[in-house]
Order: sequence, then structure tokens, then C-alpha cells
Amino acid sequence: MFKKLILKMLSAILVPLFLALSACIIVFMFYIKKYYKYWEKRNVPIESNFFLVNNTYSVFSGKLHFGSFLIKLYQSHPEDPYFGFYILGKPHLFIRCPNVIKRICENHEYFQDRSFFCEERVDPIVSKSVFMARNPEWRDSRQKLNTLFSPAKFKAMVPKILSHCKEMNLSLEQYDNQIIDVQITAESLITNVVSHIFLGIDSQCEYDTNDNVVKTAMKHVFGKGWYQGLAFFVYTFAPKLVKVLKISLIHDDFIKTIVKDVMRSYYDTKDIRGTRVIDILAKNNINIYQESENFFDENWLVGQSSTIVLASFIPMSAFFALSLYELSLNQEYQEKLREEIFGFISDENFDETLESIRNMKYLNMVVAEILRLYPLGDFVNRNCNKDYVLQETGLKVEKGTPIMISVSAIHADPKFFPDPCKFDPGRFENGTKEFERAGVYFPFGFGQRSCLGGRFSLVAIKIALVEVLRKFKFEPCNETERPIMFDNRVINISPINGIKLRITKL
Ligand code: HEM
Repeated sequence: MFKKLILKMLSAILVPLFLALSACIIVFMFYIKKYYKYWEKRNVPIESNFFLVNNTYSVFSGKLHFGSFLIKLYQSHPEDPYFGFYILGKPHLFIRCPNVIKRICENHEYFQDRSFFCEERVDPIVSKSVFMARNPEWRDSRQKLNTLFSPAKFKAMVPKILSHCKEMNLSLEQYDNQIIDVQITAESLITNVVSHIFLGIDSQCEYDTNDNVVKTAMKHVFGKGWYQGLAFFVYTFAPKLVKVLKISLIHDDFIKTIVKDVMRSYYDTKDIRGTRVIDILAKNNINIYQESENFFDENWLVGQSSTIVLASFIPMSAFFALSLYELSLNQEYQEKLREEIFGFISDENFDETLESIRNMKYLNMVVAEILRLYPLGDFVNRNCNKDYVLQETGLKVEKGTPIMISVSAIHADPKFFPDPCKFDPGRFENGTKEFERAGVYFPFGFGQRSCLGGRFSLVAIKIALVEVLRKFKFEPCNETERPIMFDNRVINISPINGIKLRITKL
């Protein structure tokens, strides 16, 4: 009797529960079906109906770097100008064809925002970052930030870069005929240069150690290991989840604290020491603050300053270290470059150095090839702002569609760069313009949203290479990895075991 009663009660609960669950599953299946038909209806080839499950597993498990993953996707559609994929039901478009890429680049009006997005109430600092912001905020911020790299301010940055390079050379002298980790040296150089120029602080980072508080903050600002990968994945493909998962892109509060301290010292002293970029930002803030109280606030300043520091540190360190690595493996190229350097630079006058750097054809070819072989920004993304019809195929790209373009995949396509895995500066004998016009070379992105610090990075790394190669020869040793292993868990290119090379005084 009692048993019967229990069974009756259970069936009274379980049956409706089962029916409700079944109804939910049916509705969910319809929802999935409707969404996953989006590209099919438009005759757009698709990568996979279950993109999130099948293909990203290898990235999340650390087996594959995100850049290599994009190359794989690109290569699996050899004949398609583009293909669609879904993330949590949202249709995304992956563009392969250089002509379509150029069209997107030229039509800023339709593709002015990135797919990244962060609401102000989720993170008031990250949301203000020029990298993340959408229009109209982005336009205002970018205009202000462009003034940081005016010719006069730019010229004032050069002696600072040069002085840190000379300091680095002095420190390297003690390692004559020894093995050093050039990744550590490069990160120290960039820590000193970037913190000096952009924050106005002297980080005093030694060139043979990672033991420095500013360097540690810059290195881990996006978080460590898998957290970094996850954060970028969520910001890129599922920005709505940022709030739910409470993921912040700027992980380390230390960098925010440094920037705020520098800001406070400005407010206290009103001391603008000319070339400090943070002071120039602060000055802009003060001027504009009166006009638009809500926009140029402290969060804006911290957001922009942190973005600039973060956007510089990781790619510039890798750029310098990988240049030394490739020049070590290719001794004839290193010698050729050194000959060019000695042919141009006769004394220590920095003005002459800057002018010479502009005219060093082989140096330009070497750095262009490094940026092709190791695109330090693996991908570029855009959000479609207004319905746009692609002339090539008639496809209507609807407002709100996220667009993905893989820099690494285009740079590694043998159609555009024969024998793409080979380091060959000779590809750029006639410069980079021809490749840029063809839409197949864009290490700093494209159009109005291209990299803010592209020119700065090129000049800084060229100065560093000229300085170090005038004094030292670099060669591979038993500990040199071939090829370099990168940390698959992080979004940027970051050699997981460092880059060990033998250094000899000339
Ligand atoms: C080798 C060094 C660097 C590489 C390869 C690199 C690459 C890139 C790429 C691919 C983008 C995306 C562009 C697009 O969406 O079209 C970008 C954006 C950006 N980069 Fe860099 N970058 C480098 C250094 C720097 C430096 C030194 C700074 C700051 C001084 C900087 C600041 C930025 C900013 C602020 C943006 C966002 C621009 C906007 O949305 O308006 N980057 N960078």
C-alpha cells in the first residue's frame, strides 16, 4: 500500500518532469536546426555544424596553437572564397579570398568595429580600450591616440630606444662566447623601452633575468596558460559570455595600479615632461574632460595606457627574439645584414642612425620576412555594421555578422609565398607594397583599424637589431630548438622553452 503510494507520487512528479524535459530538448533541437541552417540557406560552405565541440577541442586541450588551428581551417577549404561556422549558434564568416579581404578593408563604413566587445558595466576599463571600443567611442579615442605618434613625438622616442639598446649591449658583453636566452633579453629590452616611453617609469630590468616586477606584470597581464586562451576565445567568439563568466582581459591589477599611480602623479604635480606618452594622454584628457565629462575619465586613461603597454610588450619581444633566431640559423643573411649596417653607420650619432635605418634595404627585407613567417597578431576580426553585398559572389553579409580573417594562414599560403615555411628575406626584394596591394600581407592588420604602433615597432626593432648586430654575432648551439616550440595555451606567439643562442663579441 505504502509502496504504491510512493510510486504514484513519483510518477506524478517524474512524468511531467520527463515531458517538460522532452519539450525543452525538442525546442532546443528546433532552435539549433534553425540557427545551423543559416549558412546552408545562403549557399555558403560550412566548416562544421558543431564547431565548438569538434574543432576547438584541440585548441583548448593545448595540442594546437590558435594560429595553427586557423591555418588548418583555411587549408580545409582550398577552393572557397569564404566559409561559415557557428559558435554557440551564432553564424560567423571566415574570409579566405584576398580580394574579399581587400573589399572589407576598404569599406570601413561597413566593417568599422571588431567582433570583440565588452560592456562598460562588465569591465569599465577594458570596455574603454581602443582595441575593444566600438563607434563612436572608438573614433574619438583613436584620433587622440594617433597624436601620440606624431613625427615630433616619434622623433623624441628614438633616443630613449637607442639608450636602452646600448645598455643591453653593455650587459651582453659579459656573456662573450656563452649561451644566452635571447627571449629573456628581448623581453627585458621591451620592458625597459615600453615602460620608459609609454609610462614614464624606469623599470630597471636586467637583461639576463625574468626577475623584475614590471616585466612580470607585463608578461602575465593577460593571465597565465589556459586562462589567457580562454579569455581571448570568449572575448572573440562569445562576447556575451564575458559577463556570465566574469572574465577580464586585463588580468593583472599591477599594471592598472602602475598606470593609475603615474596618472595621479600627473594630477598632483601637473608635470608634463614632454615626451612621456602618459602625460600627453593626461593632457588630452584634461582638455577634453571639460567638453565631455562622461567619456574621457580615469578609466579611459587607464584603459588606453594599459592597452598600449600590453599591445607592445608581447609582439615586440617575440619580433626581436625571433629575428635573432632566424639570423642565427641563416648565417649568410646575418653577415649580409651586418655588412649593410657597417656600410651605413659610421659613428654613434642617432639622427644618422634613424636616417640610415630608413634606407637599409636588406634590414627592411629581413624584418618584413620575420613578420610574414611569424605573424604576431594571428588574426584580424571585424563586425559587420550594415548589411553589405560582396561584389565577387553576391553574398549579403548581414549586419551583426562577425568576420574572421587569418593573417597566419594567408602568410603561409604557397600560392602567395612559395615555400612558405622557409625564412627568405629575398621575397621582399621589391618591398612589401605589392603584397599589401594584393591583400596577402598584413602583419599589422588593415584599414583604419590597423595597428596603432606598427611604425613604432618597426623602428624600435630595427634600431635594436642594428645596435646588437654591430657588436655581436649570434649562432645556434646544442640547446637551440629547431623549430621553435610555441606555447599553445596562449594567444600570442610565445616560445615555450625560450630561444637559446651562442653570442660572440665581434
Ligand atoms: C610587432 C609588433 C606588433 C604587431 C605584429 C601588432 C599587430 C597588430 C594587429 C594585427 C592588430 C589588429 C589590426 C586590425 O584589426 O586590423 C593590432 C591592433 C592594435 N595594436 Fe598592434 N601590433 C604590434 C605592436 C603594437 C604596439 C607597439 C602598439 C602600441 C604602441 C600597438 C597597439 C595596437 C592597438 C592600440 C591596436 C588596436 C587599434 C584600433 O583598434 O584602432 N601594437 N596590432
